[in-house]
Amino acid sequence: MSQINPVTDLTLDGDVAVITLNSPPVNALSAAVRQGLFDAFTQANAEAAAKSIVLICDGRTFIAGADITEFGGAMAGASLPQVQEAIEGSSKPVVAAIHGTALGGGLEVALCAHYRVAVPSARLGLPEVNLGLLPGAGGTQRLPRVVGVETALAMMTSGRHVPAKEAKALGLVDELVEEGQLREAALAFARKVVAEGRPLAKIRDQNEKLEAAKGKPEIFAAFRKANARKFRGFLAPEYNIRCIEAAVNLPFEEGLEVERKLFLELMSGSQSAAQRYAFFAERQAQKIPDVADDTPVIPVNKVGIIGAGTMGGGIAMNFANVGIPVVLIEVKQDALDRGLATIRKNYERTASRGGITPEQVEERCALITGSLQMESLSDVDLVIEAVFERMDIKKDIFTKLDAICKPGAILATNTSGLDIDEIAAVTKRPESVIGLHFFSPANVMKLLEIVRADHTSKEVIATSMKLAKKIGKVAVLVGVCPGFVGNRILGQRQREAQKLVMEGAMPWDIDRVLYDFGFPMGPFAMSDLAGLDIGWVKERSKGESIRDVLCEMDRRGQKTGAGYYDYDEARNAKPSPVTEQVIKDFIVKTGANPRDVSDEEILERCIYPMINEGAKILEEGKAIRPSDIDVVWQNGYGWPVYRGGPMWYGDHVGLPKVLAKMQEFHAKMGDQFKPSPLLEKLVAEGKSFKDL
Ligand code: CAA
Repeated sequence: MSQINPVTDLTLDGDVAVITLNSPPVNALSAAVRQGLFDAFTQANAEAAAKSIVLICDGRTFIAGADITEFGGAMAGASLPQVQEAIEGSSKPVVAAIHGTALGGGLEVALCAHYRVAVPSARLGLPEVNLGLLPGAGGTQRLPRVVGVETALAMMTSGRHVPAKEAKALGLVDELVEEGQLREAALAFARKVVAEGRPLAKIRDQNEKLEAAKGKPEIFAAFRKANARKFRGFLAPEYNIRCIEAAVNLPFEEGLEVERKLFLELMSGSQSAAQRYAFFAERQAQKIPDVADDTPVIPVNKVGIIGAGTMGGGIAMNFANVGIPVVLIEVKQDALDRGLATIRKNYERTASRGGITPEQVEERCALITGSLQMESLSDVDLVIEAVFERMDIKKDIFTKLDAICKPGAILATNTSGLDIDEIAAVTKRPESVIGLHFFSPANVMKLLEIVRADHTSKEVIATSMKLAKKIGKVAVLVGVCPGFVGNRILGQRQREAQKLVMEGAMPWDIDRVLYDFGFPMGPFAMSDLAGLDIGWVKERSKGESIRDVLCEMDRRGQKTGAGYYDYDEARNAKPSPVTEQVIKDFIVKTGANPRDVSDEEILERCIYPMINEGAKILEEGKAIRPSDIDVVWQNGYGWPVYRGGPMWYGDHVGLPKVLAKMQEFHAKMGDQFKPSPLLEKLVAEGKSFKDL
């Protein structure tokens, strides 16, 4: 037998036809792969010597899904349903042999095989929801028939990659086979199926697992209610649920029709476009034009962290989670003890929810040791300084680090906006200095801004990017400027939110508009959560801002039961008449003239200056590409993924509209709104950020 096409091979191994895909990087279902599969299955069925068929992939993974790069274009070659029909309708048993990941269309192909075997390290899932989609190749109808309705709901609305062992328990995998022995084991399994005369099991005909949910709409209602907060604003989770309802209530073919219709609706909508953009943006951010993929990396086997506060402790957990020992430095024993105790408490909380085992709590805690001596950092490969945001303190620490740390060690600061070149200048090795800006809580938030200073070496950048991936962060390389990318853009929104209050909008009006836009909370609710008194000094407070007045009244946020909002015992927020009066009095005192501020103006005043600032950041070369800015905002600041990010949103609204508004605000309210020359240039040329 033979090579079917450049990505598909068909060979006969005794009485088993083996179809092998080899389409790097992830064997996605491109036109060539689909056509190859279709032809290979047709040929294997016609081959008299073959009694069964094994489908297996070369490279790092089984089929990881449809080829997302082909979405939106014209369909060429065999369609996926044609391929699936060829597999499911095969007259010989088909065994899918899974390693790596069987995701999306990949799992949907495997679900058309009559049997599935997998190595223990494999993972299976339908992650389409994360692309704003649903599994459009029968997955919504087949998965619940295999794993039951409730598991299918959870899997499809989270997109979770289920480990093979769990998949075996769920019935998604028929047999687990030894790592490294997939081909042999799959062939043996196929022969066993033939020898035992097992049936050609078609999932489409198996309805038993659906029975439990028949006539029980309350199962779906309860699921929607329990996840309402998580799904808010997103279309895809709801559409996935509707498909599973169809699987329960309709015959298979009619269920497929519902799936098709809803899939096409999602595919042509703006949410999926934004979410697919986000997928590629995140991967693009890993590519640094002047740092080649093969740049040598510095082995990081031990990490030092200075500061055992919330930030330092959270950062330490990231490394312990992946088995890297950490030494945590503090000045005083009680602060160190508190820091270590908080870390243990955090791990224990995760364990109590089933996230990790009690043994893992002990293992991870054992990896984090404390010290009061900076000298303990003499053998670490990376130090991250996470102390107060004061330049003098940071300079002092870096001077000491320069004397203590071994040559080649990476010296990182977690500053959220200070000048890293100035910090690097106190050392004799500025090439080893970099910013690693974690977001709070650092053990949870996915974003890591990696800040490249003037002299940071390529090795240090490459190491930081790789390390970020290892500890599960989404890294974006940015340049040194006040606030870097994230906080610099946030500053625009915060300033406008405060100004709008002085013009007559109430904090809850502004929060509502931004919440409805898709942010998890608005700036005032966020202040209440964080504490209004961060950076506030009682002795120096003279009622010079609304915040000062609120803090002076001991309205310091959720922790005191009141801030901008009033809170009940369960911390539910209510607009506060007290705050409203404080604001009105303050406006009178400052002689401002309040007016009605529309929701539209709130949105435009908060969001457009962010887009404009993003353009300035690009102009100055502080971000490599517009999509990097969007990755920062999606992963660090709660920008709703279904709206892409500030730059994607700017393109989507239309840059001429954004520019016109900035010009209008500039004329009315001054230079804070001065349009960026890049924005003006793009509009003049009829281009958008995506053209950069
Ligand atoms: N289509 C096209 N390209 C893909 C792809 C896909 N489905 N999945 C991954 N790639 C590309 C990535 O863009 C990346 O390309 P570059 O190297 O050029 O940046 C490369 O493959 C490697 O990807 P990762 O960097 O993500 O590698 P990883 O090892 O960290 O992760 C993975 C591998 C788990 C498969 C991850 O890539 C992933 O989650 N892929 C998406 C899976 C998915 O969503 N599948 C569903 C697709 S939609 C669908 O199938 C609809 C349907 O119902 C028919």
